Amino acid sequence: MKQRFFEPSLYHTRRNKLAQALQDGLIVFPSNEAAGMNYRDNTYPYRQDSSFLYFCGIDRPGLFLFIDSQSGESILAGDESTMDDVVWTGPVESLHELSEHAGLDRVITLAEAKNWISNLIERNIRIHYLPVYRGDQAFRLAALLDTGAEAISGNASIPLIEAVVSLREIKEEPEIKELSDAINISRQMHITMMKSACAGMTEAEVMARVRAECLKHDLDIAYPIILTVNGQTLHNHAYHNILEHGQLLLGDFGSESSMHYAGDITRTIPVSRHFTPLQKDIYSLVLQTLSSSTAAIREGIRYLDVHLQAARIIAGGLKDLGFLNGNPDDLVAEGVHALFFPHGLGHALGLDVHDMENLGEKYTGYESGLERSTQFGLRSLRMAKTLKAGMVLTVEPGIYFIPELVALWKKNHSYPGLVNYDRIERNLPFGGIRIEDNVLVTPDRAQVLGDPIPKEIADIEQYRELAYS
Ligand code: GLY
Ligand code: MN
Repeated sequence: MKQRFFEPSLYHTRRNKLAQALQDGLIVFPSNEAAGMNYRDNTYPYRQDSSFLYFCGIDRPGLFLFIDSQSGESILAGDESTMDDVVWTGPVESLHELSEHAGLDRVITLAEAKNWISNLIERNIRIHYLPVYRGDQAFRLAALLDTGAEAISGNASIPLIEAVVSLREIKEEPEIKELSDAINISRQMHITMMKSACAGMTEAEVMARVRAECLKHDLDIAYPIILTVNGQTLHNHAYHNILEHGQLLLGDFGSESSMHYAGDITRTIPVSRHFTPLQKDIYSLVLQTLSSSTAAIREGIRYLDVHLQAARIIAGGLKDLGFLNGNPDDLVAEGVHALFFPHGLGHALGLDVHDMENLGEKYTGYESGLERSTQFGLRSLRMAKTLKAGMVLTVEPGIYFIPELVALWKKNHSYPGLVNYDRIERNLPFGGIRIEDNVLVTPDRAQVLGDPIPKEIADIEQYRELAYS
């Protein structure tokens, strides 16, 4: 697929805003390199760094993007492809053509970049770069800046992190369109799961059909597919189980748009045509938590408070169903609900499925005066800060019956009066239920992105009929 770009003026404006926010020094974004799986030329699928994409959109390895924060001048550094590259991997657009798509000012070679940077370092010009998360970034930056890879890891620029987060966290109109496209392909993947999963199939067979839905659009997944009858394991990437009647099947997957924006959707369905009565009760509780949380989202509210509200709804519902005792407010204050809901309500979504997690959740999900909790469950909340219009988030409550965790809490006599261990044990194995939508924060509400994806019990059961007909 030929690489797509937004309008050059969009990248230009982003870079100007970044330069204005920093006001001193040179900003450096290294591209990601192709990474060999077992030898150099047999590579993992290539994925460009998301901040590199954000500020110039160029989807190619071997480059640096420089932004002079005083003049705003933006420079692409790289070497043109050789005839050998053309012979083995085909003709590509020149760096000059790419730099025009990105509205950049000029192109220099890597050797020129090295000389130029040495000169700036001699003149004590500050060099800003983001935290590195891949060895290739650390080594390329270290070579450019004439230092060691270890020195690179500890010296990321906090002002650059803060400036990049404040730009990337507010999605622009063309980005919302890309996200919606990714979510709509993710929707087709989920409908495929609902229409095709049958008892007797393996998880892998269903997963292959689901993945084919994005592959046939010349797209792929935004993160490893979770498709499992063991939904109580939050990030389960094994697919060997055979689906059995009476089980739940949890699917958490989404496609990446051609410009690398992620969809992140979860649905949970019965392997049989219908949910059992207990599955229906727990599913309804998760769905009610999702609706109430979505209804609470708007500019100005802290996502921490939406999360705590979700936790109280879950605790209250589990009390009504006889799994917990006590007042929901107290159960949540003590962290008892985390036996069933051990993760956060959601996270930022954008170019990354956990958007900008590489920049540090302290910056992407928290704010000054808001420290991350150390309590089990609440400490896994990635997004807690005050919401702004233009943010895109996931809303993904869940209830899980994790046998190992239940056994540990019981053995440790954790909250004996508040947790009905016998009732929980009588209902094991249960699995897990999570329902996840992706929303845009607006001044007065949350807008669920993409076309509706079935989540009401009656709608899901209709699709399940199709699977068996
Ligand atoms: N989609 C996986 C997660 O949000 O962690
Ligand atoms: Mn998610």
